[in-house]
Amino acid sequence: KTLSEAFSDDYTVGAALNVQLLQGINKKTDSIVRKHYNSIVAENCMKSMFIQPVEGEFAWVDADRFVDYGEKNNMEIVGHTLVWHAMAPDWFFVDSVGNDVSRDVLIQRMKTHIEAVVGRYKGRIHGWDVVNEAIDGPDGVRQSKWQTIIGDDYIEMAFKMAHEADPDAELYYNDYSMYEPKRREAGLRIVKNLLAKGIRIDGVGFQAHYGLDVPLVEVEKSIVAFGELGLKVMITELDLSALPFPSEEVTAEVSTDVAYQEKFNPYKEGLPTDIKNRWSQTYIDLFKLFTKHSKYISRVTFWGVNDTESWKNDWPIKGRTDYPLLFDRAYKEKSVVQSLVQLS
Ligand code: XIL
Repeated sequence: KTLSEAFSDDYTVGAALNVQLLQGINKKTDSIVRKHYNSIVAENCMKSMFIQPVEGEFAWVDADRFVDYGEKNNMEIVGHTLVWHAMAPDWFFVDSVGNDVSRDVLIQRMKTHIEAVVGRYKGRIHGWDVVNEAIDGPDGVRQSKWQTIIGDDYIEMAFKMAHEADPDAELYYNDYSMYEPKRREAGLRIVKNLLAKGIRIDGVGFQAHYGLDVPLVEVEKSIVAFGELGLKVMITELDLSALPFPSEEVTAEVSTDVAYQEKFNPYKEGLPTDIKNRWSQTYIDLFKLFTKHSKYISRVTFWGVNDTESWKNDWPIKGRTDYPLLFDRAYKEKSVVQSLVQLS
């Protein structure tokens, strides 16, 4: 069985696609995707800096390819993402002399963007990550330009605009580390506010960029907490880093210093057996948990396909060798794939 076949009674299983694949120059990854996954999300090409890099100038080529690809292969197609503080071009937020735009102007720009992007693919996208990563800081409110210029209600506005642009599309709130109790509470506040106001929201996405220390008990509490509200819970950006998560002081620069390499890039030549086993077991435990809660979980999406192309090699520090995904640098399936398939 393939991964999507194995879990077909429980949830869809998918992957984020990069533009190399969509441009047809990544055949090996392409065949893995078509074999194993029945759901796709755009890794980058629908983000505002790529799809509307200059005000009023939309670059649709890769996003069109993405949607065509999903339709041709009969996959669940997920759009990512409409409103996010990162990877959004500056023009959204500043006027011609570099000052913040007014609230009204930013609301109008958000509306134009959502109408254009959601409208173009109306009826073809299963669901949209409408707002991404609105949670941060001690009180849970990220003070992004969206929030500081418009106010907390930018979230409601974005969901309403997306719903108007495609009334049949599902709409999601997506964020990271949703297992942390404070972030869970902040997320619950956001979605409960939307539900209380009768604004359409179908689901919540847990990004799931996990490490070997991921607290499964807390992940479970979050699945249940959002699921009990009647929302679909989606694991939207799953990858499991085998590397230590560096503290915040570490810069994003590549360092060839030996001590630095030993500390932050220790497995350049491959994973030691004990780490590899722990890594596999953590994936198995995660999928057991997802299946246990399959009445809440509707989709599990990996953030990429193979280790070579994973963003984790460059985040949170650049130029590392990480092992977060199910397929290795030779495009070969790791043994954990069969372990997962056999869970079902
Ligand atoms: C990442 C992509 O994988 C990288 O290629 C890009 O350089 C930066 O963004 N949270 C998200 C995703 O919602 O869009 C991010 O994707 C990873 C973190």
